[in-house]
Amino acid sequence: MQVMQSKEIRERFLKFFERRGHAIVPSASLIPENDPTTLFTTAGMQPLVPYLLGEKHPKGNRLVNVQKCLRTDDIDEVGDNTHLTFFEMLGNWSLGDSDAKGGVGAGYFKKEALAWSYEFLTSQEEGLGLDPARLYVTVFAGDDPSTPESLRTGAPRDEESAEIWKSIGIPEHRVYYRGAEDNWWSPGENGPCGPDSEMFYDITTQGLGDLSPEEFQKADDNQQVVEIWNDVFMEYEKENGKVIGKLKQKNVDTGAGLERIAAVMQKTDNVFDTDLFKPLLRAIEEKAYEYDIRSSRIVADHLRAAVFLISDGIIPSNTDRGYVLRRLIRRAVRHMDTLGFADTKLSEFVSTIADIYGKTYSNVLKNIGIVQKTLDDEENKFEATLKKGLSMLNKIFTRVTGLKQYEDGEDIPIHQPFSGKELFELFSTYGFPIELSIEIYDEKRKGILLSPLTDVQKRKILRGFDLENRKHQELSRTASAGKFKGGLADHSDATVKLHTAHHLLLAALQKVLGKEVKQRGSNITPERLRIDFTFDRKLTDEEKQKVEEIVNEWITAGLAVVRREMPREEAEKLGAEMEFGTKYPDVVSVYIIQDAEGSIFSIEFCGGPHVSNTSELGNFKILKEEASSAGVRRIKATLE
Ligand code: ALA
Repeated sequence: MQVMQSKEIRERFLKFFERRGHAIVPSASLIPENDPTTLFTTAGMQPLVPYLLGEKHPKGNRLVNVQKCLRTDDIDEVGDNTHLTFFEMLGNWSLGDSDAKGGVGAGYFKKEALAWSYEFLTSQEEGLGLDPARLYVTVFAGDDPSTPESLRTGAPRDEESAEIWKSIGIPEHRVYYRGAEDNWWSPGENGPCGPDSEMFYDITTQGLGDLSPEEFQKADDNQQVVEIWNDVFMEYEKENGKVIGKLKQKNVDTGAGLERIAAVMQKTDNVFDTDLFKPLLRAIEEKAYEYDIRSSRIVADHLRAAVFLISDGIIPSNTDRGYVLRRLIRRAVRHMDTLGFADTKLSEFVSTIADIYGKTYSNVLKNIGIVQKTLDDEENKFEATLKKGLSMLNKIFTRVTGLKQYEDGEDIPIHQPFSGKELFELFSTYGFPIELSIEIYDEKRKGILLSPLTDVQKRKILRGFDLENRKHQELSRTASAGKFKGGLADHSDATVKLHTAHHLLLAALQKVLGKEVKQRGSNITPERLRIDFTFDRKLTDEEKQKVEEIVNEWITAGLAVVRREMPREEAEKLGAEMEFGTKYPDVVSVYIIQDAEGSIFSIEFCGGPHVSNTSELGNFKILKEEASSAGVRRIKATLE
């Protein structure tokens, strides 16, 4: 039987919404372009935050896209039927609810959003042609007296959406109310958020029919119904984890996971049996010496994520994004080991991934050589120490300090878990990412039916790790204590100022070291900025001093910082700095730093935010210049 392929799902989705007045926008990079506060693009809405907050989008207020996303929150679940690190999200947006006027191109809200979601899911001609009798939906229940303070939203029970669903044809008893834990969506502790309505599809062969709320919950827990779509009604704002009130405008943010939809369309209960994964899994399983479905899936997922991350310009390292990439690659290598691979390299599977994705994401194809080399380098580095590290973990595990007698009289060995110092040795000498050591140790415990390390034990070990780390000074704290999840920092004045200083710094580096200097990564906290840039040697003291002087000169000169929207080609002609590996839309936002005569000092593709004049910045100071990876240097700097 012919089933719908992922390529067609993407195309049908984009076309469906284009016909309904939405402009198609390309996927943004996995590296958030304008948002120094998060490590990765984790949802389709993330690159659109400024527009959800009220800035005008150059393409209008109805948008549709397929966005590359990366989330590591569920990394331990990867290997089951539905969890992934990298995934693609189909999304349509309405920025601002101007539907009072109506008409094509005007913003819309609940009524249109829900009706179109339903139509796309069920229409044979234009959509997916799914069976309406297998759909269930949830809506936001509102706060109730038992809602804990931290989850209170002040938003009403979403009876409006429930009514709309009924009018569309979803029977009342298939509309379930759920609280903020399930049906309130926000990208993190700060930013736009709102109640959502989720659509679930019954994937059982026999069909479940009508379900009571309890039965529906159970079917959800057992993955007999899967969430395939989420419509978020973004009209609220969160600050420091609390909903503080309404936004200036009402928005619609929708998201549907392509891999899950592909699984539904291809009549399988798991994302790995879809056309997005099957050729890759087959290639892995063909070459493996051991059969272990979980390990094969982990290798496939992590490798795919690594290929996309490297194509978007990330290089393995011990901090931030580079650390996440390193962790994914090394975890994949370790599972290759479980699968008994002897001489096969991860990079051998890259061409299969390029076959699957090359037509949709040209930068995967374009960067195939860089990707393979990066993977080989990283794998070689880790392989040299993998066996030794595993044997160290084995030794630690067999360190039995005593026996404990259970009630039935059986003796259970008491294992002394590793110390923070040993975890640090595994990390620094054997290249074991922290989480990987803990995971392997827990697996060994599981092997003899012991429960995993407790949170208290883990915290104690991590404290020991930090202590050791501080002694060794050179590692960033972000690599430790599990800060790799990409939580949001803030949009404080300090961060905004450092963001502008970051632009000045890149321009000054090019002035001193040459125009070939290109940005390869950045990260800004309220305390400091960090830039990674291409350059193949250490900077001399004179060069560093010169860069500092130039930036401070530009600050003192009181240069204007202006935002312009222009066609991409024009921005390219002006020499605007672009992020490596990023695909830009036809109309882009650039930030120009210029003097009163209009002489340009810096021009970058960027969505802001920035200060309006460099005189607001204070004194610029380089804190540190160091190697980041081969051919890439790193500078940390601050404003005093
Ligand atoms: N932003 C919403 C999500 O990621 C649609 O589920």
